[in-house]
Amino acid sequence: MAHDARRARGGEGPWLPSARGAVSAAVEEYLRGAGPPARSQDVASAPVYGDDLQLALYLCYELHYRGFADVPESHEWDPDLLRVRGALEHRFLTALRADTPAHDSVEDALADLLVEPVDGTGISHYLSANGELWHVREYAVQRSLYHLKEADPHAWVLPRLWGRAKAGMAAVEFDEYGGGRPDRVHARLFADLMTDLGLDTTYGYYLDEATAEALATVNLMSLLGLHRALRGALVGHFAAVEITSSPASRRLAETMRRTGAGPAAEHFYDEHVEADAVHEQVVRHEVIGGLLAEEPHLGPDVAFGIDVTGHLENRFADRLLGAWRAGKSSLRTPLRSGISLNP
Ligand SMILES: [Fe+2]
Ligand SMILES: [Fe+2]
Repeated sequence: MAHDARRARGGEGPWLPSARGAVSAAVEEYLRGAGPPARSQDVASAPVYGDDLQLALYLCYELHYRGFADVPESHEWDPDLLRVRGALEHRFLTALRADTPAHDSVEDALADLLVEPVDGTGISHYLSANGELWHVREYAVQRSLYHLKEADPHAWVLPRLWGRAKAGMAAVEFDEYGGGRPDRVHARLFADLMTDLGLDTTYGYYLDEATAEALATVNLMSLLGLHRALRGALVGHFAAVEITSSPASRRLAETMRRTGAGPAAEHFYDEHVEADAVHEQVVRHEVIGGLLAEEPHLGPDVAFGIDVTGHLENRFADRLLGAWRAGKSSLRTPLRSGISLNP
């Protein structure tokens, strides 16, 4: 949906976005009250990492977060929609298991996380060396789908943990949720960063602009968070995020200063340099250590969670850097200064 149309509808949103193919179109029609949620042959034939399948899955998951202003809340537990979500998840998880190079042990998977690429090929390396303000704004738009609900997908794992793992996870989540201070909730800090960059902070506002690769990184979190059977992988995923965050946040904080992005933009990443250095230790020793002490058979799942995070983050980085190196926008619809280009 065009941005002006979103604004004209008023209210808080978020609103259903434009469909990207047969599956996402059918899911949207169903959410609006018409037709079956999707044909199984369309689900089976849609490219698994493509726009249509990833958006359809994202729409199904979003009903468990803040939903859509134009969709009844009761759809969250609609059995027909859950059946479609299950089929989409099956395709996604099957592809992830096939495409993710698996480490034999959690220790090996964790050790590889700390090996910085020698050629500095990550997004934070690129932004640090070459980033201009328009790159920074595009990065914020793509990441806003997660950061405006930062830590929410991981909160679902809490009832599935016990003892040290539960206490460690809750301690980190308490920090992510601002330690009791609404102005320090990390999602709030990210909204402040977006304000610095002249972006709209409405939850889900940039869903139309975000690429399939960005949607897939968020879908992974929802998939792992919503399934108790995947609690080990959720913990591995969370560890991967926290362990890689601190050095990347240092580079991004420097980028914000160099590009003059603004004080709140600097603060978001400065905050993560220090906070995630602490979170890394808690996640390693209490969350992973505690979980594997209770349930040692989950080791391969924890390693999978670490590895699959790298797999999807690499796909996301390839998409952004491929566009930027060619001097092009990484978004489905480019931004113009201040507001989106969308008519
Ligand atoms: Fe955070
Ligand atoms: Fe953190």
